[in-house]
Amino acid sequence: MSVGFLTPLLLSLAAVVVVHGQLQTGYISIDCGSPENFNFVDIDTGISYSSDGAYIDTGINKNISSQYAYPNNPNLPQPLSDLRSFPHGNKNCYTLAPAAGKRGLFLIRASFLYGNYDGDDKLPEFDLYLDVNLWSSVKFSNASDEVTTEIISAAVSETISVCLVNKGLGIPFISALELRPLSSSIYGTELGNTVSLVLFKRLDIGYTNGTGRYKDDIYDRIWSPYYSPSWNIVSTFSAINSNENGYKAPLEVMSTAAMPRNGSDQLELSWTADADASKFYVYMYFAEFQRLEKNQTRKFNISWNGSLMFGPFVPRFLYAVTISNSEAFTGKEHRISIHKTGDATLPPILNAIEIYTAKQLDELPTFSEDVDAVLDIKRTYQVNKGWVGDPCGPKNYTWEGVECNYSVSLPPRIISLNLTSSGLSGTISASFGNLSSVESLDLSNNRLSGPVPEFLKELKSLKFLNLEGNQLSGYVPTELLERSKAGFLNLRVDEQNLCSSGSCKNKKKIVVPIVASVLSALMVSVGFIMLWRLRRKRKSNADASNGEGRPLPSKNRQFTYAEVLNITSNFQDVIGKGGFGNVYRGHMKDGTQVAVKMLSPSSTQGSKEFQTEAELLMRVHHRNLASFIGYCDDGSNMALIYEYMANGNLKDYLSCILISCHSNLHLLRLFFILQSKLILMGMIIRLCDNLTLADKNSNRLSWEMRLRIAIDAAQGLEYLHHGCKPPIIHRDVKTANILLSENMDAKIADFGLSKAFPNDSHSHVITTVMGTTGYLDPEYYNSRKLNEKSDVFSFGVVLLELITGQHAIIKKDESIHIVHWVSPLIESGDIGSIVDQRLHGEFDANSVWKALEVAVACTTPTSFNRASMSLVLTELKQCLAMELSHNRERRQGFSEVIYNIGPYNSPEVYSLSTATESITSPSAR
Ligand SMILES: *[C@@H]1O[C@H](CO)[C@@H](O)[C@H](O)[C@H]1NC(C)=O
Ligand SMILES: *[C@@H]1O[C@H](CO)[C@@H](O)[C@H](O)[C@H]1NC(C)=O
Ligand SMILES: *[C@@H]1O[C@H](CO)[C@@H](O)[C@H](O)[C@H]1NC(C)=O
Ligand SMILES: *[C@@H]1O[C@H](CO)[C@@H](O)[C@H](O)[C@H]1NC(C)=O
Ligand SMILES: *[C@@H]1O[C@H](CO)[C@@H](O)[C@H](O)[C@H]1NC(C)=O
Ligand SMILES: *[C@@H]1O[C@H](CO)[C@@H](O)[C@H](O)[C@H]1NC(C)=O
Ligand SMILES: *[C@@H]1O[C@H](CO)[C@@H](O)[C@H](O)[C@H]1NC(C)=O
Repeated sequence: MSVGFLTPLLLSLAAVVVVHGQLQTGYISIDCGSPENFNFVDIDTGISYSSDGAYIDTGINKNISSQYAYPNNPNLPQPLSDLRSFPHGNKNCYTLAPAAGKRGLFLIRASFLYGNYDGDDKLPEFDLYLDVNLWSSVKFSNASDEVTTEIISAAVSETISVCLVNKGLGIPFISALELRPLSSSIYGTELGNTVSLVLFKRLDIGYTNGTGRYKDDIYDRIWSPYYSPSWNIVSTFSAINSNENGYKAPLEVMSTAAMPRNGSDQLELSWTADADASKFYVYMYFAEFQRLEKNQTRKFNISWNGSLMFGPFVPRFLYAVTISNSEAFTGKEHRISIHKTGDATLPPILNAIEIYTAKQLDELPTFSEDVDAVLDIKRTYQVNKGWVGDPCGPKNYTWEGVECNYSVSLPPRIISLNLTSSGLSGTISASFGNLSSVESLDLSNNRLSGPVPEFLKELKSLKFLNLEGNQLSGYVPTELLERSKAGFLNLRVDEQNLCSSGSCKNKKKIVVPIVASVLSALMVSVGFIMLWRLRRKRKSNADASNGEGRPLPSKNRQFTYAEVLNITSNFQDVIGKGGFGNVYRGHMKDGTQVAVKMLSPSSTQGSKEFQTEAELLMRVHHRNLASFIGYCDDGSNMALIYEYMANGNLKDYLSCILISCHSNLHLLRLFFILQSKLILMGMIIRLCDNLTLADKNSNRLSWEMRLRIAIDAAQGLEYLHHGCKPPIIHRDVKTANILLSENMDAKIADFGLSKAFPNDSHSHVITTVMGTTGYLDPEYYNSRKLNEKSDVFSFGVVLLELITGQHAIIKKDESIHIVHWVSPLIESGDIGSIVDQRLHGEFDANSVWKALEVAVACTTPTSFNRASMSLVLTELKQCLAMELSHNRERRQGFSEVIYNIGPYNSPEVYSLSTATESITSPSAR
């Protein structure tokens, strides 16, 4: 290529001079980095170039340094004298909208010349993507290295994105970008549209004197002149007919060719690929120049690595024919040989060859409705986050504030959109309602106004919605409030959008229904006492915390031993025994109740685990993991301080109910006989250890509550496995390590045995087996290989306990593991004998069956076949949804009203409805 320097005067001349150039139909030719609205016709090629403006918003224009520019470099093509560089954002994209649109096949060429444009004299290295798939890695040998890469690809949508990705090895830039429409009947492969072809070599055989870029190439391919000393060059002045050949190689390319110098030799071409598994497609061009005599034949076979690819073949006189391989050539070493057949009198001939590597298009673009929605959001709110190219791809370069879910064969879906503090103003756009897979939507702290739209309720996957800090009017759709109440949606809205009735302000959690069978309508006096206790409790809550829950210290803190003594009042109140020492109840200065876990001084072995736990707790925060308040470590005394969980652990809770329920009838009689509520209360308080009567024993732990506990625990584990980096394996999941708050929220505790895990879910670590009999994963026990699925097994056991009310090891005549106890019963379909009798048949059988299925999926012997906690969680939520709709049907009308009140429905109404139901149930039996 030669001079491309143009003054404005020359420019106008050039425009006149080069009218004989190609029609350039459908061409897009961008001289990246040229001044705004500077369009020109390149004097060498006759191609009209435009500046970047219409194709990209980001980046800055630069000129290469004069050392590499004209006139110091007289052969520099004009488009390479300037460039656009992208110091901001790790992905910047040109958006091309070819006229042929979605159906077209295109050749796209990107050119790069560093030319020390930034004065740093440091060669950058970066990646080039076509839409979401890697096209090429751009590297330079030196500052004057002109790097050009070409790709042939079918468009998958109306627009094509060419993206430059900063991989931390220097600022990406681009000098020129060109798109040429191709006939879609050429460059086909047996892999169809699952591959693009990246140019490896395009050789004009036998020509040594041209620029390689010919005006009569309607596809504007650039052909490199090539010949070998062992070849004879032949050429013709006759026109070569390409009418029937879709590849339309230009005349100048076709009219030269090579033959082996020794007529009996073969023509050979060989190359080595970068990678072993590279796939190549070869397109060979042939035309006969010689009018052959009767006794002459030119006939040859074409082989690849010794095996026949095509032949025998007779080239046509002055007709272009293209031959390509029907299946990819795979491997590292490649050798094409063209050798004449035995009956041929003339040597083989080759006019031109193109070699392409196939790039697998493994990544799919984002689901188009999601793309349309976010593009509309970008436009509507003028979102200024460098949102270009595909929202979800390439995988590591999603849009800022966007998270996606990827699957193997389906397009990625947007599951999270975070536009907090992004200066959005106006109403909430309907496009948000089109993000049908979104699970988390954060629009907090903007200037959004207008009503909270109804269409938000159409977002069925929504688990988190934050509209706080806006100027929205109206109320959140009832359905969203219900989902929030049912625990499916974490809803954050400003107070004024919450709900119309004043009762909503009273943010009360569901109060556990009163024990019912005991509280028959006859027992009015006891009822009074209960109500009195409830009210008192509510009052003291309000006093302590303005109704918003206890204030916890905002930062994890280190405490001195003296402080620990003070907090626990000299270890007065033992509330449990952990593996490494006692757990005490304590009070912080502000009155917050805490649980203090001491490491017993004798237990030297525990000290390491103790530190593990402290370290883990410092970095793990989740609402279903026991909150960590602080720790004490002054050499000889070590303590961990947690949030106090008023309802103790699930194990005690389940056993306690067992006691109270088994003795129900008996107790009822006692009521009459003893006539002394206080004595009775005392008994049960002792039976249930630290649990208090009104809160605990009055509770039947309905199937719904059991499911909620299971979901909470599953959420905690899911977070440990999939939300923590590196993932954490608990190693001792059991009912005793699931704690229950005052509102019966379940939290996972006791990380003493936890193992932080390498960041690969398929790996495992070999450890000494730790854990608790009954919950221990048999595979882990046998192999010593620990992975997250060991927790899944233990969780499955917990779930079985919740369903059946049995212990992990059932002690009858002989001990039997709950998994072995339950499986024959499941097989016989006998749900009546599986489910905890204490539920009195009050559950949705489908919900319980599904939960059983989940438990079975958790406890299969081989960890590979066990479900992940994410799946377990999804399934359990469906169990809860089934149970809730079942409950709703049962309650008919009456509780429909209750559900509609909002997420914080008043406890009086709720427990009344449940109590009503409970009171009638015993009489039915
Ligand atoms: C690059 O050079 C051209 C011609 O000299 C000039 O018009 C343009 O402003 C320069 N661009 C930059 C970014 O310096
Ligand atoms: C720069 O690199 C290219 C490609 O490797 C090479 O052809 C050229 O000779 C090099 N130029 C200089 C000045 O080293
Ligand atoms: C090479 O090109 C030059 C000018 O473009 C021309 O004068 C010369 O005849 C050509 N040589 C051959 C062998 O085609
Ligand atoms: C051509 O090649 C054949 C076989 O390789 C050889 O026998 C013959 O001598 C060669 N002829 C010439 C002229 O080099
Ligand atoms: C082919 O025929 C021509 C005459 O038509 C003759 O001169 C020539 O030697 C023959 N060539 C061969 C290879 O037989
Ligand atoms: C994406 O990032 C991960 C981790 O940072 C890395 O292992 C992976 O190779 C990256 N993938 C691509 C396509 O860059
Ligand atoms: C949204 O982004 C902000 C700031 O990056 C972050 O604090 C907030 O937690 C994010 N919201 C969600 C739901 O992830």
